[in-house]
Amino acid sequence: MRLSGRALRTGAGLLLTGALLVGCDATSSETTPSAGVPSPTGARTFKPGAAGAGDPYFPSYGNGGYDVARYAVKVRYDPKTDRLTGTATVQAAATSDLSSFNLDLAGLTVRSVTVDGAAAKHSRKGNELVVTPAHGLIAGNGFVTEIAYEGKPEPLENEVLGEGGFLHTDDGAIALGQPESASTWFPVNDHPSDKATYDFEITVPDGLTAVSNGVPAGKSDADGWTTWKWAERQPMASYLSFVVIGKLRVTTGEHKGRPVFSAVDESLGKGAADASIADTVEVADYLESVFGPYPFDAYGGVVVADSRIRYALETQSRPVYSAGFFRQGANTDVVAHELAHQWFGDSVALTKWEDIWLNEGLATYAEWLWAEHSDDRKAESTFATRYSGSPSSLWRVPPGKPGVENLFSQSVYQRGAMTVHALRVAIGDKAFFTLLKTWAADKRNANGTTAEFIALAERVSGKKLDALFDAWLYGTTRPDQPEPL
Ligand code: TRP
Ligand code: ZN
Repeated sequence: MRLSGRALRTGAGLLLTGALLVGCDATSSETTPSAGVPSPTGARTFKPGAAGAGDPYFPSYGNGGYDVARYAVKVRYDPKTDRLTGTATVQAAATSDLSSFNLDLAGLTVRSVTVDGAAAKHSRKGNELVVTPAHGLIAGNGFVTEIAYEGKPEPLENEVLGEGGFLHTDDGAIALGQPESASTWFPVNDHPSDKATYDFEITVPDGLTAVSNGVPAGKSDADGWTTWKWAERQPMASYLSFVVIGKLRVTTGEHKGRPVFSAVDESLGKGAADASIADTVEVADYLESVFGPYPFDAYGGVVVADSRIRYALETQSRPVYSAGFFRQGANTDVVAHELAHQWFGDSVALTKWEDIWLNEGLATYAEWLWAEHSDDRKAESTFATRYSGSPSSLWRVPPGKPGVENLFSQSVYQRGAMTVHALRVAIGDKAFFTLLKTWAADKRNANGTTAEFIALAERVSGKKLDALFDAWLYGTTRPDQPEPL
């Protein structure tokens, strides 16, 4: 889980404290100002893309009308001035005929935008960047947009969920957060339903490390600046992107043919954090035995010391941990939790935020499994303790429909994990572990929903499970003790 204890706010429980052608025929240039009006020849109607992806909890997140395949983000950041200069190249395909489309970008100043190499108009509406290409974009066609931007990045404030996004630290910066953060440092379709691959080039003053997702893809030096290159080649939800810039103690290696790259803030003496992160590959190997093949191309972990980060996050291929988790000594439970998310949360991502228990319930249950494997703390007794010892508030919040204010509540984490255990008891170990592996395999690099998970559980077990899930996910009182079905 992953809120360091001391900052746990109870109740709401969360944070501690190709380019193709449009314009070759007469109809396709029919864009604004008559957007939405059929062309005289009646062939195509180009309309603005939606300003949100349609998430019931966060309607403004993401955008409609296109699907991103790849981001190439190049930023230069100077901690002394707290200024960032960037270019983002976004390769996408239109999913409807577009006269304009939006990207999410919080703060920062846009200098220029091109679409397929031609200058495009751009305007800002709050945290939306509206791009109007010279010609309409035809549904099904690919397009490439390039945005040049700069400014002083600011985090996003969310009353319920806390700060997310770009934070200037003592000697660098951290861009991290859930359910949003990416838009504070690059223009993005900021919703997990639109996964894409990412290439990052992060240029920082010599002496600082810039670490991000995926495989290290080289490093170059010029005029007192170092450029760190990172490539995440498996599709990734935007909130799973991150960058940590600072004076970091780096460990590199290789495991099962994949690069390992971990980093711990140098202000922390070498100790429990380093030791816990060093166990990453061992924990990943255990989880692989339960969930199936590790889904990504690299391993690692990053431990940050800034007091504003009081959680860990399952950033793809390389989770980020608050130093607080390791203050009492080595802690592999949190490592097991964040690594379990690599399968459940990252590789199998959410379609909508309401289904957050699918991420947190499974990752918390993975902690129970890891405890049993590494420490002989039985999952069954962890369940029993939680079942009898949880506060009544937990039973009032349905983890399958928690509401925005309880998105990261104890119900989502603990009752979510109890739901997983109740399912295990009901269908038996054989069907249960087949289900976990099948879910990870079928939805690898994709998105899933609670309804799909339930349907698969019924298919794999051959049992009707609606009563079980109704009680555990949607009920507002404590369900009965689970029994084999
Ligand atoms: N999803 C994170 C985890 O369980 C923890 C988390 C909860 C979080 N709320 C957050 C992280 C807000 C960042 C921001 O591992
Ligand atoms: Zn989690």
